[in-house]
Formats: sequence, C-alpha cells, structure tokens
Amino acid sequence: MTSEQPEPPLWEQNAAKSAALPQGIRLQKVLASAGLGSRRVCDDLIAEGRVTVNGEVAVLGRRVDPAADRVELDGAPIGVLPDLVYYLLNKPQGVVTTSKDTHGRPTVVELLPAEPRVFAVGRLDADTEGLLLLTNDGDLANRIAHPSHGVEKEYLAEVDGGRVSPGHIRQLRDGIELDDGITAEARVAQPEPGVLRITIHEGRNRQVRRMCAAVGHPVRRLVRTRIGPLADRSLAPGAWRELTAAEWKVLTEAVAREG
Ligand code: URA
Repeated sequence: MTSEQPEPPLWEQNAAKSAALPQGIRLQKVLASAGLGSRRVCDDLIAEGRVTVNGEVAVLGRRVDPAADRVELDGAPIGVLPDLVYYLLNKPQGVVTTSKDTHGRPTVVELLPAEPRVFAVGRLDADTEGLLLLTNDGDLANRIAHPSHGVEKEYLAEVDGGRVSPGHIRQLRDGIELDDGITAEARVAQPEPGVLRITIHEGRNRQVRRMCAAVGHPVRRLVRTRIGPLADRSLAPGAWRELTAAEWKVLTEAVAREG
C-alpha cells in the first residue's frame, strides 16, 4: 500500500493553473508586437526605465491591458494604441497643407480618411510635391517638428539657370543669408545639371525655394523625397499609406534622443 495521494484529474490541474494566471498581457510582449524589437530588447527598454504605464515607470514582469493602459516609450505613446494613426502621403502639386483653404483649393486632409482627424507634421507649399507625415499623435508631431531633434528633410529641386556652379553649391551648403537669418549647414548635391538634392534640418517658410533663388537659381519644381527615415519612391502622387511598425520605431527613436 502507498500513502501517496492520487494526482488530481488534468482538468482540475488546468483550472487551478488558469486561476493563478495574472491578468493582462506581458508588457514586453505588447512592446514587441508594436515593433520595438525582440522581447529581449523590450525587456532591456523596461529595465532601463524608459517605459511607463499610465505615467509610472514600469518594472519587469508588468502586465498591461493594451486597450485601457497608456503605454509610453521615452514619453511617446506606443503605436499599438488603436486611436493613434500615422499616414505617409505623397502630396500632389496644388494641394494645400492647411486643413481649410480660403481660396477653395483641395487640402491634404481631404485625401485621407475623415476619422480619426489628423494634422500635418510641418508643411509643404501648395506648389511643392512629395512626402508629408500626418498623424493625430501630437506628442510625436511636436518632437519631429522641434529643431533640437534635427529631423532631416531631403528635397529634389529642379532649378532655372542650368548647372549650378561649385561656388553656389558651397554657399548653399555653408549657409545662405535670408531675410530671417542665415540658414544652417545643409547637404547639397547636383545629381544632374540644374537638379539639386538638398538636405536640411530646419523648417523655415519656403526655405529651399528662397535658398536657391538667393544664388540665382529659382526653383521650377520641388519634391520632398525623405523625412528622417521615411522615404517611399513607390507612393504615387495623391497616394498614402500607414507607417509600418518598423518605420514608426525608427522615427520614434530618432526623436527620443536629445538634440
Ligand atoms: N522648402 C520650400 O521652399 N518649400 C517647401 O514646401 C518645403 C521646403
């Protein structure tokens, strides 16, 4: 005879196990599914104190309800939260960046879903084409727009006056005296005569047009081809798409660093 108790049936063991399970999803799993890296990387983010849940620094092993809890990395909400959207639009010429135009011209928001309402991060002139980021995430938008983060914007400018001389290219690179002050250093290349690739990290009104005009080469056509890590040559004018998780992650990391 044996004094050992018989094992409880399997269903009873499973019921006991699920009763002992804590509520919610592991935070590192939520972060990983938002595209922030492997679970290991996400554990490191938590251990470094960079993740908060409802404003409190999270500890390893924390569980969350992604629908109810506000999860942030370096103070920026993570993109799994269903009410935050991030669109990359290829703005066509003639469409204005403001949400309403006094001259009745079409606006960028008319090219996007009506809900949730989004706004443009920075602006492009009505005549300028190319990439524009639109979101309802005010925090990320402020970080991107803030000059201290120096997010690069790259433009292709077709200019009048043919080949731009090396001296004028140097001037564009080093800084041009405009009526609102000298421009910061820029990267400038001439992939073909009369076409400039200009990369700046300021966002002054009509800056590229004014810079080129100042060296005697007014812009005929201006296209923004990159915003920080965001580029997409396959997006047709007027077309848009949501940012991928990987793009969102790189962008968020770029603006999380102090400038
Ligand atoms: N520089 C310009 O001149 N126009 C734009 O739309 C953006 C940058």
